[in-house]
This record gives sequence, structure tokens and C-alpha cells, in this order.
Amino acid sequence: MKMLPSKSVLFGLIVMVGLSFAAQAQSGPEAAYKAKCAMCHGADGAGNTPAGKSMGAKDFRAPDVVSETDAQLQGVIEHGRNKMPAYQGKLSADDVGGLVKYIRQLQGK
Ligand code: HEC
Repeated sequence: MKMLPSKSVLFGLIVMVGLSFAAQAQSGPEAAYKAKCAMCHGADGAGNTPAGKSMGAKDFRAPDVVSETDAQLQGVIEHGRNKMPAYQGKLSADDVGGLVKYIRQLQGK
């Protein structure tokens, strides 16, 4: 009895998996971060960009940012603080939650 799927089914599976990875890369928190946040906060979260430095963005990995709760970080993203723009209404709650997780990732958490 032959149990191997045909070559075309295998090929279809590979294409589907590849496409879903590509879609994730373009719509996940990392993509949102790169599109909306990195110009100030930097790709690594250090805030080491011209805009970030002039506005006073802190390194996300600084101990006082690391020790803020998820709710606090979420609050800053939604309501803004000083030069940090407010994103409520521009990003869904899910997007903001994803960005908080992404910032934790940048912090190595
Ligand atoms: C126009 C520049 C700019 C953009 C764009 C920007 N930020 Fe900020 N962000 C700042 C500045 C400046 C601060 C520091 C605010 C302050 O003075 O407390 C900040 C602070 C924060 C903080 C709080 C960290 C801390 O210092 O305690 C978080 C979290 C944050 N930003 C996330 C984001 C996310 C997520 C995005 C994208 C959706 C984003 N920021 C986009 C400038 C920016």
C-alpha cells in the first residue's frame, strides 16, 4: 500500500506554509513596530535614532522601562506621553498587546 502523498499535494503544502510565513512577517507586531515605531525607538528599541534622541525616547532595555508593567507600557502606547504619540484608535487593542509583547522580546524577556 502506498501512503506517500503525490508530488503536487506536497508542492501545494509547501507553497501554503511558505505563504503563511510570508503573511505573518508582513502583518505581525514586528512589522507594525518597524512601520510605526522604529523611526523613533530604533529597530532594537534603543531609541538611538535622530528622532528618538531629539524627543527623548528611552532605551526599552533600561531598567526603569523593563520594570514597568505590561499595562503601563500599553497605557503609554494608547494614550501617549510627552512626545510619544497616542495610538488609540490607530491600532487595535490586539495590535497594542502584540507590540507590548514585541517590546518584551526586544528586552530579552
Ligand atoms: C515620534 C516618535 C515616536 C514614535 C513614532 C513612537 N514613539 Fe514611543 N516614545 C517616544 C518618546 C519620545 C517616548 C518617551 C516618552 C516620555 O517622555 O516619557 C516614548 C515612550 C514609549 C514607551 C514607554 C517607554 C518608557 O520610556 O517608559 C513605549 C512602551 C513606547 N514608546 C512604545 C511605542 C510604540 C509601540 C510605538 C509604535 C506604535 C511608538 N512608541 C512610536 C517617541 C515615539
